[in-house]
Amino acid sequence: MSKIRAAITATGGYVPDRVLTNFDLEKMVDTTDEWIRTRTGIEERHILEDGKATSDMCVEAVNQILQKKKIKADEIDMILVATVTPDLVFPSTSNIVCDKVGAKNAWGFDLSAACSGFLYAMETGARFIETGAAKKVLVCGGDKMSSIIDYQDRNTCIIFGDGAGAVLLEPTEEEVGVMDSILKADGSGREFLHQKAGGSLRPATHETVDERMHFVYQEGKTVFKFAVTNMANVSKEIMDRNNLSGDDVSYLVAHQANLRIIDATAKRMEIGEDKVLINIDKYGNTTAGTIPLLLNDFEKQFNKGDNLILSTFGGGFTWGSIYLKWAYNS
Ligand code: UT7
Repeated sequence: MSKIRAAITATGGYVPDRVLTNFDLEKMVDTTDEWIRTRTGIEERHILEDGKATSDMCVEAVNQILQKKKIKADEIDMILVATVTPDLVFPSTSNIVCDKVGAKNAWGFDLSAACSGFLYAMETGARFIETGAAKKVLVCGGDKMSSIIDYQDRNTCIIFGDGAGAVLLEPTEEEVGVMDSILKADGSGREFLHQKAGGSLRPATHETVDERMHFVYQEGKTVFKFAVTNMANVSKEIMDRNNLSGDDVSYLVAHQANLRIIDATAKRMEIGEDKVLINIDKYGNTTAGTIPLLLNDFEKQFNKGDNLILSTFGGGFTWGSIYLKWAYNS
């Protein structure tokens, strides 16, 4: 019997309408459009309105998939949500998405791995498909980063945006889908990128709020160094392990944190610019949303059998790559 693999069979994506440009940020903090563009590649990002949450963006992405595939919500077995900005501490955003889309026969959970969350969740969903435990798994990655960003801190507020994407995983016996994966973590990196309060270590108090401890804290330069090395290394490692040369790779689908990190990874993989998918200019860093948003934006460009390398690096530290063979022509 041939091996069952998990294939992406549809994508969806959503960013809010409201746009926050570099020029808007010039009026809020001491920065310039030129600095942001040359240091990060970002031109604008999208911001979700008050009263809406990560689940609302995931619901938009999921509903696109249900419509595209003409499947009913009650046919879904699982919904996984990768996020660091859940609607509530509990219940999970997955539970809320299941309820909002009417996925009455689904179960699921949230997965927290910062910018690597979507790849961690995809790997998890793929295992449920490969073992036969599930037939239709929706994997969402999304964050309302604006809910944890300090718009007085120029080190972080210029980078992040809000958005979510989703993919449908289904079983296949063809030579497509998730072919290999390498996922890594090193929690000793937590001091360089984290949210200081709001968890069980430091629950919210007047003091934590006054000291602005509920926002993202990042030592950018240190994170940059780890990101450049580790994302490039893991991308090369998964290519070598699967005997893929730069010519064999159709596209690099990399976490959109900084254009310079993505360029360094592409260089290490020995692939040309035309194979590097970019949307950081429009969305900024949407944390768990970047990779599914890329897959959705470029879906029409992919052909069945294309070799995609999905790579990421983020808080934790967490990082990794998935080698995916695209399963369909749009
Ligand atoms: O997605 C999860 C993982 N995160 C990442 O991968 C992010 C990794 N880090 C980065 O992308 C970059 O480190 C940043 C974009 C955050 C910062 O870029 P950088 O080239 O590393 O800048 P820097 O922090 O070394 O700062 C250089 C200078 C400093 O001034 P001095 O000390 O040289 O006078 C900063 O104060 O730029 C200054 N600076 C700014 N200037 C204008 C920092 N932020 C800004 C700003 N506008 N927004």
